[in-house]
Amino acid sequence: MLTWMRRNRSSAVEEAEKPVETGPGDSRSASDPAPAKPLLSVRNVERSFDVGGQKLRVLKGINLDLYPGQLVMLRGRSGSGKTTLMNMMGGLDVPTAGEIYFHGNPLHEWNDDKRTEVRRRDIGFIFQAYALMPLLSAYENVELSLRMANAPRSEWKNRVTSCLELVGLAKRMHHRPFELSGGEQQRVAIAKSMAHRPSLLLADEPTAELDSQMAAQVMAVFREIVAKENVTICMTTHDPTILEVADHVYEMVDGVFVSK
Ligand SMILES: Nc1ncnc2c1ncn2[C@@H]1O[C@H](COP(=O)(O)OP(=O)(O)OP(=O)(O)O)[C@@H](O)[C@H]1O
Ligand SMILES: [Mg+2]
Repeated sequence: MLTWMRRNRSSAVEEAEKPVETGPGDSRSASDPAPAKPLLSVRNVERSFDVGGQKLRVLKGINLDLYPGQLVMLRGRSGSGKTTLMNMMGGLDVPTAGEIYFHGNPLHEWNDDKRTEVRRRDIGFIFQAYALMPLLSAYENVELSLRMANAPRSEWKNRVTSCLELVGLAKRMHHRPFELSGGEQQRVAIAKSMAHRPSLLLADEPTAELDSQMAAQVMAVFREIVAKENVTICMTTHDPTILEVADHVYEMVDGVFVSK
């Protein structure tokens, strides 16, 4: 029984079984089975930085909803504010103004410790800054996120193995990152980010370093995770060819979303 893993997810799953209610930013048609409440809501979020005594406004009123089981993409030119927004959605940073609700909880009001706790338990990251540990094998890297989430030791082996199988790396489990290709490393990072069964997975340019075949493979893995694990994935990309895989695309221009 994987009760510890299911505990975090039960509310999202219950929500997914509720009848359709179309909300702002909801991209689904009325005939799709869909939850009433978003997993994550961004409301009028602004973020400014003080640079050289001047206020730099990077996000200028962002609204976004992520629902359980969605694959959502953010696109936009370099410097438009995508990473800044992703940092806030994952509780790594807090808005200058506006609100962010995760499972209905006010992430924007929580202190660092509380946000760290929710991140470890219920959010997965595929960020450049969260790269693999170089001295650990693929297996040990994935296991690390189960340790961090306080998962029972008896369940580590099955979960690590099945995550690495899901990303097609069963035969590379004992390789360390430098013994893997770039695409393989990225897939280990995916396995690591999802091992503790987060309800939200945030990926900042997960295909940027990959060739088109590898990128397509990573996207196939994402679709599979969304379907099999009922995870919500939000990712940024510059690659127009993979946008069609998304359930919804938000386009950011200079700190605001514009319609396509
Ligand atoms: N900590 C910070 N202090 C000051 N300015 C910042 C900070 N973080 C981001 N910025 C500025 O905010 C703007 C948006 O940055 P961000 O990293 O969100 O862009 P992006 O859309 O992710 O771009 P890219 O596609 O190149 O990754 C940039 O002009 C950047 O210089
Ligand atoms: Mg960025």
